[in-house]
Amino acid sequence: VQPRHDLVIRHATVVSDGVAATADIAVANGRIANVGTLTGEAAATEVDASDLVAIPGVVEMHAHLREPGLTHKEDVATGTRAAACGGVTTVCDMPNTLPPVATERAFREKAEAIGGSCWVDVGLWAGGTKPDELRGMRRAGAIGVKVYMVSGPGFEPLYTGDIPTLESVLAVAKETHWLVAAHVGDDNLAAAERQGLIAAGRNDARAFLALQHGDASLTGLRRYLDTARRVDVPVHVAHLSIFGVEALETVRRARAAGATVTTEACIPALGSRDLDRLGIYALASAMEDRDVEIWWRAIADGEIDAIATDHAPHTRAEKAPGERDIWAAPPGHPALQTTLPLAYDAVLTGRWSIESLVDAMASRPARLLGLHSKGRIAVGADADIALLDPNGSWTVDQAELESKVGWSPFDGRTLRGRVHSTYLRGRLVARAGEIVAEHPTGYVLARRD
Ligand code: NCD
Ligand code: ZN
Repeated sequence: VQPRHDLVIRHATVVSDGVAATADIAVANGRIANVGTLTGEAAATEVDASDLVAIPGVVEMHAHLREPGLTHKEDVATGTRAAACGGVTTVCDMPNTLPPVATERAFREKAEAIGGSCWVDVGLWAGGTKPDELRGMRRAGAIGVKVYMVSGPGFEPLYTGDIPTLESVLAVAKETHWLVAAHVGDDNLAAAERQGLIAAGRNDARAFLALQHGDASLTGLRRYLDTARRVDVPVHVAHLSIFGVEALETVRRARAAGATVTTEACIPALGSRDLDRLGIYALASAMEDRDVEIWWRAIADGEIDAIATDHAPHTRAEKAPGERDIWAAPPGHPALQTTLPLAYDAVLTGRWSIESLVDAMASRPARLLGLHSKGRIAVGADADIALLDPNGSWTVDQAELESKVGWSPFDGRTLRGRVHSTYLRGRLVARAGEIVAEHPTGYVLARRD
């Protein structure tokens, strides 16, 4: 008998579209061919997933893979290997690489250069500094356009400080039905606030948090939302959670007034003690303990559209000066391999549901990015699947992670549950925290809607 399918995963608890139910998943030619009780279906490979949970592979909206130009920190191969081991099957890479992705030419060259190095699928963001270049990047397949309303370590070349430029970017996004995401802020206000903190002798991690939560971020956020309302276009706010709970309140008010605004949060897994213990290594996702609870509630309630890893590796050498002076080192930490494990641990400890996890980590990001074959376990979708083991556990060991930088703020943490294996278009890429595929088979995805 000829096998009808390439792969059948049997008896899994399949979570998709808000429902968790026991089912078999049949895969042919990289796509899901059938889901249900599949008694007659033969396959080349059969996987017994009786004790496992099958979710759509995580769709990561916001990561920094550092290629080209910053490959001493990470590259597409190491970053996507980390993703695969962490249950992530689509990674959307931010444009603050070198050269910055601000022109159609830079976009096409980057897409071309990384083509053979992707262990999972990769989408590319365009940078929104040159309105004339945007349509070209849209046509070339950029999944969205990112605007940096602040300059900072590593993204100065993408700084868009003026409102007329922001308005032009938003107008193009509206016309071309494209997602626009902003890192909100105000450079002048931020510089003044930072000077004030420095003058008060503050050079600790909490001072950095105070700046992130301060008036510069909130003013920038309000300005972004006001501009979006004027242009009349939906907008997305990158890593809202790093700006504090007042930023969440600001978004709530805008929504109540009729704005269409979507948001990301980083997984709230670094609290006050981590901040004090790890300093710059915990930035920028760390928050006060009392805020951890507030963000978890917003995430569990579905108020947050997407969990973002904001995987932003920097080397230990780059971080080291921050141990004496927080202002002397770049914020950001690796997170691609650890975010789903942390999120699933939170499911098993009752903070949120597995259905909500799938929604915020796969389905909704896929929809926002126009990646219509991703984010669901349903007939016709790409067979991107993470199998989770609720009975397993995992202790994070930074020496064993795939990221090039070799450190993690989550080192030493023991988590409930573990990522059992990751399939990309029906092909097993990673198992038990290790890459098992022989070569990379990920695509550079192009947004075509
Ligand atoms: C990012 C980086 O290092 O590129 N830093 C960070 O704190 N996450 C930049 C960014 O996300 O804006
Ligand atoms: Zn980022």
